Amino acid sequence: MTTKISAKNINLFYGQKQALFDINLDFKEHSTTALIGPSGCGKSSFLRCINRMNDTISGCSINGEIRLDGQDIYSRDLDLVLLRASVGMVFQKPNPFPKSIYENVAYGPRIHGLFNSKSDLDEIVEKSLTRAGLWGEVKDRLNDQATGLSGGQQQRLCIARTIAIEPEVILMDEPCSALDPIATAKIEELIDELSQNFTIIIVTHSMQQAARISSMTAFFNMGKVIEYDITDKIFTNPTNQQTQDYITGRFG
Ligand SMILES: Nc1ncnc2c1ncn2[C@@H]1O[C@H](COP(=O)(O)OP(=O)(O)O)[C@@H](O)[C@H]1O
Ligand SMILES: [Mg+2]
Repeated sequence: MTTKISAKNINLFYGQKQALFDINLDFKEHSTTALIGPSGCGKSSFLRCINRMNDTISGCSINGEIRLDGQDIYSRDLDLVLLRASVGMVFQKPNPFPKSIYENVAYGPRIHGLFNSKSDLDEIVEKSLTRAGLWGEVKDRLNDQATGLSGGQQQRLCIARTIAIEPEVILMDEPCSALDPIATAKIEELIDELSQNFTIIIVTHSMQQAARISSMTAFFNMGKVIEYDITDKIFTNPTNQQTQDYITGRFG
């Protein structure tokens, strides 16, 4: 399988404080990778490197290299709008726009000019909602406010909004932590399906979730990648003692 993203020697600082130390991780195309580790170990900071969300945090500086399909995403001539179109992101708390369900999904395609006619756009909206497993529940109320949906539905809407512009990579930062178990199960099912067409990197504090949905797992601790391997290996026979201690609940 081809390497989709390659991170090399990433160091990240908030002011003087170093939060990531020499991170080296490669992600295969069309796979799901889980980032796990105790709170504050740098998972979100690393995830934000991949679509340059850290650019917006003042005092944050990064060195090292991240390549997407071989292209340096920190190069000066990179188009940030295009980068964010190919690397979508889903956050912990569902954050639909205060607009209709339809307009939430249509937003990205409008900005990026991805359609020629209203019927093209309708098609994109339907297809995205269908892929996000939400179409059946909302097709009769597309003009209702998105904020009226349940938390789980809002999160699937945010996923629909993300995939409407056909990204190649989807970053998810604890996408289920605000959801109940049933809504969580639906999102996990969805991630499993999406991994056939997208490269997914997901931060999760749930080891059960990581074990269920990812093929690779990276264990972070104190700003470093301690171990990165096939998920089964990490959870059944880790090489590093710190990983062993974490997965058996001895810290974190
Ligand atoms: N915007 C920020 N400004 C300053 N420090 C930050 C910021 N975001 C995160 N940090 C610090 O960086 C470290 C890693 O945080 P984070 O990446 O959020 O970890 P995780 O997602 O694993 O909980 C923590 O010590 C945290 O306090
Ligand atoms: Mg985090």
